[in-house]
Amino acid sequence: MGIKNASGLKKIFLALVVVNLVGLAAYHLRTTKVDHINLRPGDEEYHHVEDINYDARIQELLTNAKEPNLKNHLTVDSSMFLNDTASPSAWRNKDTIFQDPRLAISLTLNHLRHQLAGNSTLELPFHWADWVDLTYLNHELEKPVHERMDCKHVKEYLECNSKVDRARIYDNDQYIKCMSNEDVSPRLLAKYGFLGHSQVPGYIYYDYSDYKTDEKYRLMQGKTFLFTNSPNPYKIMFLNDHGEDLVYNVTSKQKIIFSGLMNQYVENNRLSRGKVLLNPVKEFNALVQAEGLTIGDKTQYQNFSAVKELTPSMFHYGRGDVELQISLYKRMAGRTELDVLQRSFLNSLERSKEHDSANEITYFKMSSMRVNENNTDNGWHYDWRFFNGKLVDNQRTNIILERLMRNWFKFATKNDMTSWIMHGPLLSWYWSGQMFPYDNDIDIQMPVEELVKLGELYNQTLVVEDLNEGYGKFLIDVGTYIHNRDVSKRSNHIDARFIDVDSGIYIDITGLSTSKEATPKNYYKNINDSEDEGTIMNEDEEKEVYNDRRLHYYNFEHLSPLKMSMFSGVPTYIPNEIIRRLKFEYPRGGLVSYEHKDWYFVPKLQNWVHQDQLLSVVDPNDYLEGTDVSKNKLITLAKTISDEQLHGILAQSEPLQLEFSHSKGLYDFHKAELSYLVKYDQDKPKGPNDPLDKQGKMLDNYESGKNEEYDALVKKTVRLDKPLRMSLFEYEHLRDVPAKHN
Ligand SMILES: *[C@@H]1O[C@H](CO)[C@@H](O)[C@H](O)[C@H]1NC(C)=O
Ligand SMILES: *[C@@H]1O[C@H](CO)[C@@H](O)[C@H](O)[C@H]1NC(C)=O
Ligand SMILES: *[C@@H]1O[C@H](CO)[C@@H](O)[C@H](O)[C@H]1NC(C)=O
Ligand SMILES: *[C@@H]1O[C@H](CO)[C@@H](O)[C@H](O)[C@H]1NC(C)=O
Ligand SMILES: *[C@@H]1O[C@H](CO)[C@@H](O)[C@H](O)[C@H]1NC(C)=O
Ligand SMILES: *[C@@H]1O[C@H](CO)[C@@H](O)[C@H](O)[C@H]1NC(C)=O
Ligand SMILES: *[C@@H]1O[C@H](CO)[C@@H](O)[C@H](O)[C@H]1NC(C)=O
Repeated sequence: MGIKNASGLKKIFLALVVVNLVGLAAYHLRTTKVDHINLRPGDEEYHHVEDINYDARIQELLTNAKEPNLKNHLTVDSSMFLNDTASPSAWRNKDTIFQDPRLAISLTLNHLRHQLAGNSTLELPFHWADWVDLTYLNHELEKPVHERMDCKHVKEYLECNSKVDRARIYDNDQYIKCMSNEDVSPRLLAKYGFLGHSQVPGYIYYDYSDYKTDEKYRLMQGKTFLFTNSPNPYKIMFLNDHGEDLVYNVTSKQKIIFSGLMNQYVENNRLSRGKVLLNPVKEFNALVQAEGLTIGDKTQYQNFSAVKELTPSMFHYGRGDVELQISLYKRMAGRTELDVLQRSFLNSLERSKEHDSANEITYFKMSSMRVNENNTDNGWHYDWRFFNGKLVDNQRTNIILERLMRNWFKFATKNDMTSWIMHGPLLSWYWSGQMFPYDNDIDIQMPVEELVKLGELYNQTLVVEDLNEGYGKFLIDVGTYIHNRDVSKRSNHIDARFIDVDSGIYIDITGLSTSKEATPKNYYKNINDSEDEGTIMNEDEEKEVYNDRRLHYYNFEHLSPLKMSMFSGVPTYIPNEIIRRLKFEYPRGGLVSYEHKDWYFVPKLQNWVHQDQLLSVVDPNDYLEGTDVSKNKLITLAKTISDEQLHGILAQSEPLQLEFSHSKGLYDFHKAELSYLVKYDQDKPKGPNDPLDKQGKMLDNYESGKNEEYDALVKKTVRLDKPLRMSLFEYEHLRDVPAKHN
């Protein structure tokens, strides 16, 4: 959305209104008589037609909202992808790179299927360059080698704090983990899978460098690393919404143009070399069948009970548990050879034992960027390896977040991983049952027992979205030091991440457990708790405390029983205490503030609308105070929006039409569930008449979990719904509309 360019948007919108109204007026004249025409200030062409039924117009917009249409085939010339051709135009012999997820996915699935008939171990070659878009490197790769940027060039753009630092950087490329093209040895060339130096960019990053720099260099760093030294995932898991998921071990690191997957595809399908049509969805369905998996319905995403009881033992973890696992793994290693996942898990147990919260090495690395007058994004929400440009386009951000949520909870439900939303997402769930449109990350929590299981069974698994819904790919990355449970002194606050490898945006996963950490006195106490919650508060003090590795503390009852709900159309757990927790984290009115960062909550839409959109449909006389926009007045306008104005907003935004038409049912459910989960205590003594007073009157309804009606509502309604938005691939590559990056 062109948030920055309000006036531009306004012009486009007015043009739209005029076009709409011409059509509309013609339609209207045939049916009813136009009563009178109002002119708006500064807009002589704005014809206000009084008795149009805007509710009907809205319904019409929603009914006609353009459904996503994933075009899943790709036609390529197979001879360009063969591994044994001398043709200079074949990709194996070129310096620049080609990438399309449909190619990698189709060829991989086909390759797997044709091996099933045999009885040997399945081969699965993998290279990040085939699965993630690294074509950004082409602007360097297309230059002659001697004209490409080298490490010297990069250094100019690294932010240093001192002269000593700068001198160190200049003395030694290794200090910043950079290697210039000329320094790549023949051994490394072979290891990285290149035929010659011309296929290597002018410089590569073989590891993370924490010097802040600019977007362009962060892109180069992450992408040259994925292109060369980055380890592969251990497994690929293809999510299957209609039956069991498909999981395969990655067996070698090789690009398609060298592994011969296209040679095999042509052979397996008895095609002649030339144009081939690749269809990942067809390949996926064929593999599911070949694996003998039943094509069922979505029952695993249905029929949930309303509450899920946890047990305190799920939160217990200590040194003894770590020692026990180490000895079990060592005994196992004596009997059989450990596989890569087991070796890495044993290593994490041992590394955790050797280190404590003060001297652990930071695990997750970010695309930290220089902040200045031209850039306010410090990069602390992108995984450095997969960073693919700053989030500047709100629509793209919302797509990424929705798919992250969707695929995490699909994965978690299927694999019986208990987790729930917390912090920002819980607050945004409270408002709309959806993500805030201005968020850029997602927080979920799990008991430590589940976190350890995640590391032991799924670390370095690349989860591929059900291909019928899109080509999302998410890396499960679990930190080495998760076995240490006190508060981390050196940035290991987050235990694990579920990373969208197409954007570097992720879900932050934190485990909760007992620990040696001393609990601060008021760790979960709201200013007005004694008044709000009566005895509940006083009981807290005696109880066992679970913490994450930052500074969040909980008792068992704060979390359990979990309640089943939906978040953006996906079955999701929320913790037992919602309101009390949110009052604690957002004491200045998170539950009652209708405006945040220029977004306004519109109850009629049950969603947030940006100020620019709102301004385009309301009368300036109604919100201006002198020359300033009055937020309070806008809040009132948002709360009392008319059908006509709502129609105006929806007419501007196709994505919003689709989102609204898909989520209307979800809102009805959300309103209904809130009526069980939250109580309002009208009789509480009246404070000053401010919004916080209202927040003070909200309480958790602890009885909801025992309510049969609530249980029936959840059982009847909670299910995996359609995505609210098109897929990221579709948005970035297949739309007719020009991309909205600026
Ligand atoms: C693989 O299958 C063939 C033919 O069915 C059989 O002869 C052979 O013993 C099998 N090999 C193994 C290792 O199971
Ligand atoms: C993956 O590797 C593990 C350990 O070597 C093995 O037990 C498992 O059967 C393999 N899975 C597949 C699908 O080949
Ligand atoms: C090409 O791929 C085929 C099939 O994977 C493989 O057997 C062959 O060794 C490869 N040839 C070259 C030159 O890499
Ligand atoms: C849902 O679960 C209940 C038991 O919890 C069972 O009786 C019922 O048949 C299930 N319904 C469906 C549609 O699976
Ligand atoms: C910000 O951008 C302007 C215009 O491109 C440029 O002249 C200026 O040097 C930039 N400032 C910084 C600190 O990079
Ligand atoms: C997960 O895998 C990474 C990469 O191999 C490793 O560094 C980390 O220690 C692993 N974490 C766990 C919990 O095994
Ligand atoms: C606590 O209650 C008092 C009196 O009802 C009220 O004035 C105050 O705003 C409340 N504080 C918070 C943080 O809710």
